[in-house]
Amino acid sequence: MATQGHYNPNRRHFIRTSGGVLAAAALAGQARTAFAADGGETLRVGLIGCGGRGSGAAREALLADPNTKLVAMGDTFMDRVESSLKKFVGSDVDKQVAVDKDHMFSGFDAYKKVIENCDVVVLATPPAFRPEHLRAAVEAGKHVFCEKPVAVDGAGVRHVLESCKMAEAKGLCVVSGLCYRYQFAKQETVNKLIGGAIGDIMVFQTTYNTGALWHHGRKDDWSEMEYQVRNWLYFDWLSGDHINEQHIHSLDKVGWAMNNVYPIKATSSGGRVQRTDPKFGNIYDHFNTVYEWENGTKAFSSCRQWDNASTDVSDWVYGTKGKANIQTHEIWGHDGATWKHEQTTEDNMYQNEHNVLFAAIRKGEPINNGEYMCGSTLMAIMGRLAAYTGKTLTRDEVLNAKESLVPQTLAWGDAPQRAVAQPGVYELA
Ligand SMILES: NC(=O)c1ccc[n+]([C@@H]2O[C@H](COP(=O)([O-])OP(=O)(O)OC[C@H]3O[C@@H](n4cnc5c(N)ncnc54)[C@H](O)[C@@H]3O)[C@@H](O)[C@H]2O)c1
Repeated sequence: MATQGHYNPNRRHFIRTSGGVLAAAALAGQARTAFAADGGETLRVGLIGCGGRGSGAAREALLADPNTKLVAMGDTFMDRVESSLKKFVGSDVDKQVAVDKDHMFSGFDAYKKVIENCDVVVLATPPAFRPEHLRAAVEAGKHVFCEKPVAVDGAGVRHVLESCKMAEAKGLCVVSGLCYRYQFAKQETVNKLIGGAIGDIMVFQTTYNTGALWHHGRKDDWSEMEYQVRNWLYFDWLSGDHINEQHIHSLDKVGWAMNNVYPIKATSSGGRVQRTDPKFGNIYDHFNTVYEWENGTKAFSSCRQWDNASTDVSDWVYGTKGKANIQTHEIWGHDGATWKHEQTTEDNMYQNEHNVLFAAIRKGEPINNGEYMCGSTLMAIMGRLAAYTGKTLTRDEVLNAKESLVPQTLAWGDAPQRAVAQPGVYELA
């Protein structure tokens, strides 16, 4: 399908209500933003990044709407496409999977071919590639499910912000994989905090202390680029470091409880004390960051990936009238009143986000999570760069930095060789 120009609300209305116009649009090869509200039209889903999360998200997309089909899959590596496809055989969505050999794509350009062939695209590669993939999807007029984080540097965040504005103008959905925002229990808890349940928020203590993650090793016939992309977690240019890749969930809950007002500066320390082997690329294994808001609120944030150490995932919030733990959905007032969310319905956040996305597409009422998915990604990048440089950095300095970590041209062969950042030496360009 060709890309299309500006979104025209009248055209969208006609497409939704008239089969004749639908056919005409298809013939003209135009991108489609709206689909039969009665669910009578099949929505073609494409998956880019066929790993653990992408495979899960594709399944959730299929479960969200009975008239969806997975029609195209792309990954840098064909073995990942094949292993993902195999997972669907005999599964609860087996009948909705219609990916033939001609629609299994590999290589750095695979994303372009997936986008051409679908109506809704799931973006689930490492975050380095998200800006480019999101832009291509929006330019082609496709609705998007966009995994977190959305970038690894300020340049990437700026690009994604622009793409989200373009999506809004075209009436396209951009739903973020910052999944906690779609968990009913957290929605109820955070809405209470925003509504003043603990008075004015003074301080957060948010923690993501967990164990080590996977490593896929190295094979003799892999180029350096293949080695790094297969082990993307460990390279800052691919993952943005684990503060961006994992702790972003904690930072997003903080940004959400602040009603999407984000901090203006960050001071941080970090380093690597367990993952010192060169096979772990150049990322740190711990960060401790203080974020500060214009109104004086502070967030003390801690994340680490250490084996044989205590683990903790929690988000404490202290206000003038009480305290809360967002992760466990509990609120305690200074007056003795307590509240805990009572789970009454099934509340699978991963499924909820797709249910909302597909309902929005069917209704023709686009959802765009661009602002907060960029805000939370930027918050994580601020923490990383404050630790790497050893300097207190402002949001504007990080957002507007020239530094761009992702190579302009991607090819199998050499890959960026970035040293472990040393505070006081690393400079943010
Ligand atoms: N929302 C959540 O709770 C959650 C959970 C896990 C992962 N994630 C996010 O989802 C994304 C994927 O994580 P994962 O755990 O599935 O990792 P994964 O390694 O299992 O999958 C990533 C896949 O992307 C492929 N890939 C790499 N570069 C590509 C490119 N340029 N084009 C196409 N494919 C490419 C890889 O080969 C791999 O198969 C990450 O951004 C991660 O942070 C989100």
